[in-house]
Amino acid sequence: MASVREKLLVWFDREGRDLPWRRTRDPYAIWVSEVMLQQTRVDTVIPYYERFLSSFPTIEALAEADEDAVLSHWSGLGYYRRARLLHRGVREVVAEYGSAVPEDAEARRGLPGVGRYTAGAIGSIAFDKEEPVVDGNVSRVLSRLFRIDTPLGTTKTTNRFWDEAARLVLGERPGDLNQALMELGARICTPKNPRCQSCPVSADCKALGHDEVDRLPVKRARKAPKQVELAAVVATRGRGTDRKVWLIKGDQPLFGGLWGVPMAEGSPRKALVEASLEARLRPEPIGQVDHVLTHRRLRIAVFLASAAKGIESKNGQLFTSASLQRVGVSTLTRKILGASVGAAGWGAWVHT
Ligand code: ADE
Repeated sequence: MASVREKLLVWFDREGRDLPWRRTRDPYAIWVSEVMLQQTRVDTVIPYYERFLSSFPTIEALAEADEDAVLSHWSGLGYYRRARLLHRGVREVVAEYGSAVPEDAEARRGLPGVGRYTAGAIGSIAFDKEEPVVDGNVSRVLSRLFRIDTPLGTTKTTNRFWDEAARLVLGERPGDLNQALMELGARICTPKNPRCQSCPVSADCKALGHDEVDRLPVKRARKAPKQVELAAVVATRGRGTDRKVWLIKGDQPLFGGLWGVPMAEGSPRKALVEASLEARLRPEPIGQVDHVLTHRRLRIAVFLASAAKGIESKNGQLFTSASLQRVGVSTLTRKILGASVGAAGWGAWVHT
């Protein structure tokens, strides 16, 4: 009888997708792909990955790039902290390790933004090391395969996943084994309507044997996301194609260091004051944007204003539509600018 890991490898050889990061053993490229793939779907990641690597083909190229250029390549992927940590991690590798991603697992895990998951993915895929990975997909596969019914997110469950993954990865082709687990979770062992008939390890699946596939994994009870009411101000200056919009770069936690329009809980006036911006505000909102984050639901009233002169400051700047393309703008900012377009009577600012 073939083992679980043999069946997974045979299945992966036959069914695994031909993805761009599977055609390389460059640890830097694999690092980029794995950071992008955290919290983002494969189909979405592919074009971002390709653009990113064509702009920053080597670890040195990324280390030398400035942060705005890096973030602009991330624009739309979300979770921008990932990009900034990747950038810092890469700079550390160039400065401390002669531009070679460390093969030593401890050294890799010491890099900014490189946790157990990313370290294991790079180690197994690029360096052929028997290091486990556990992400959301792998957790689901393992919880069903081993019928683990303690709730997700608890220390006990997490430790069990890593222990099982560490056992499974021992043997030949650890990188492919890890990717087979991820691939199985993404394509067969899906959260809803899993395709157990096509699963290479259905005969080994304890949950299937007990008819509990739909019950596993057990989710942890979550607090309902908090609803937050915000006012955003799209302040512009000039007319026609000369029209510019005023953005701030900020410590605003919502933007994570990207450029965004002034926003505040409560009134648009407060948003202007906090941004040190003098502008004539239209009293009525011109639209509303809803945006869902992991722990918060944002309801944003969008206001228009015309910006007074002489307002540029250390963290505020006027952008034309064209110059916006060159800096990092979050999906939320795109939505807000998009909502203001019709009402304000100017052309499309950003492609949404
Ligand atoms: N998700 C995270 N890493 C992945 C990989 N290497 N292949 C497919 N999906 C993934």
